[in-house]
Amino acid sequence: MSLLTITKLTASVGAEVTGLDPAALGADDALGAAVLEALEDNGVLVFPALNLDPQAQVAFCRRLGEIDHSSDGHHPVPGIYPVTLDTSKNSSAAYLRATFDWHIDGCTPTGDEYPQKATVLSAKQVAERGGQTEFASTYGAYDALNDAEKERLASLRVVHSLEASQRRVTPDPTPEELARWRARPTHEHPLVWTHRSGRKSLVLGASADYVVGMDLEEGRALLADLLNRATEADRVYSHDWSVGDTVIWDNRGVLHRATPYDANSPREMLRTTILGDEPIQ
Ligand code: OGA
Ligand code: MN
Repeated sequence: MSLLTITKLTASVGAEVTGLDPAALGADDALGAAVLEALEDNGVLVFPALNLDPQAQVAFCRRLGEIDHSSDGHHPVPGIYPVTLDTSKNSSAAYLRATFDWHIDGCTPTGDEYPQKATVLSAKQVAERGGQTEFASTYGAYDALNDAEKERLASLRVVHSLEASQRRVTPDPTPEELARWRARPTHEHPLVWTHRSGRKSLVLGASADYVVGMDLEEGRALLADLLNRATEADRVYSHDWSVGDTVIWDNRGVLHRATPYDANSPREMLRTTILGDEPIQ
């Protein structure tokens, strides 16, 4: 008998996992392996009404890999970071408006860390309007290219920066904001990521600033076209949250974004991030 009951949500991305005992999540090694396998296959796993408390979420995530503690301090439980626009709940909330654009977590780390393997969100409070989280497969985006495009894109490299992703939502930064963004190093990544598994994916999203060695506007138009095609409506799974849902996504294989919600919304997601062990190469 399979450990998990998995139902695909769209043809290309996302699956719902049901019949899971939250109490077993933190204690069962085989369950962790089964979740990771299902995650690699589906890009996104939705656990409806799991109602994990923060400690149980961190214990579950430990089964999936090493937990990222670099954003600790915004929530009493180590390993939990509150995703909310409410600055009274999260002093770094201002950066989170950039989640409204398609992106891959971990393309612009502070050092040379690999992109996070997986990100986990649980809904503590949901938005009255908007605030869905949307996902699109970056493996699917590569697979949909024609042969000539695959060949043309194979050697391209792209510079990613925090400034690029922040400018999209804050086009007129103050000098202080700009200086803070620029304090984060830029990172050059291949456009096509060849994974250890042999699968290939496109590395796109808000942090992608320009294509190395290509005319600036031409390169940006190429990136925008690839992103548009990767995220066409029929390639997207949109998760409409209920309080208590948990969703996990694989940053190696999906782009994601939040649909806009009000700055005064009580929406609050509790996030845990699992460190990556695979460079973009
Ligand atoms: C994130 C993120 C999207 C959302 O936490 O990395 O992009 O819907 N969140 O809150
Ligand atoms: Mn994100």
